[in-house]
Amino acid sequence: MGDKNKANFAFGVGDNTYQAVGQEEGIVRLVDSFYATMAAEEQYSAIWQMHSAPPDISRARLSAFLCGWMGGPRRYQEQFGSIQIPRAHASLDIGHEEAKLWLACMRSALETLGHCDELVEYLMIQFAVPAERIRQVCQR
Ligand code: HEM
Repeated sequence: MGDKNKANFAFGVGDNTYQAVGQEEGIVRLVDSFYATMAAEEQYSAIWQMHSAPPDISRARLSAFLCGWMGGPRRYQEQFGSIQIPRAHASLDIGHEEAKLWLACMRSALETLGHCDELVEYLMIQFAVPAERIRQVCQR
């Protein structure tokens, strides 16, 4: 991609984000890295301990969701049915701190995979939107 095209590149258009992250394979690697980081690093223990489903199930569900969310195939709907993200978290105890931890863990996973700054910054802005809605639904 030339510099001129790069300046005009918009992640949010069509399936650009999905392609930039490396399609389904890239999303699976991102989610694996996200959960490996959450499990391994003490600073994320508060959100790691919230998980009750087996790790394989949590990974599969998040990967399937992110696939459609990034403009790719709607795997979550295909495999698990419909979902409303804030409502799916409503029974959890998620406040500012937990939302911050989730976002930091996701940033760490994106950086571990070596994605370019533009993609990381774009995705962090996008992830902050559902994270804040979740926090509001959990009302902390
Ligand atoms: C705000 C901070 C967040 C926290 C602390 C959090 C935590 C969790 C936890 C504990 C689960 C349950 C998993 C289990 O029991 O194994 C879960 C499920 C899930 N989360 Fe989050 N999450 C957050 C934000 C997000 C965001 C921003 C997204 C999407 C962009 C997301 C997507 C999902 C999906 C798709 C599931 C599976 C839901 C289902 O199939 O029922 N989460 N989350």
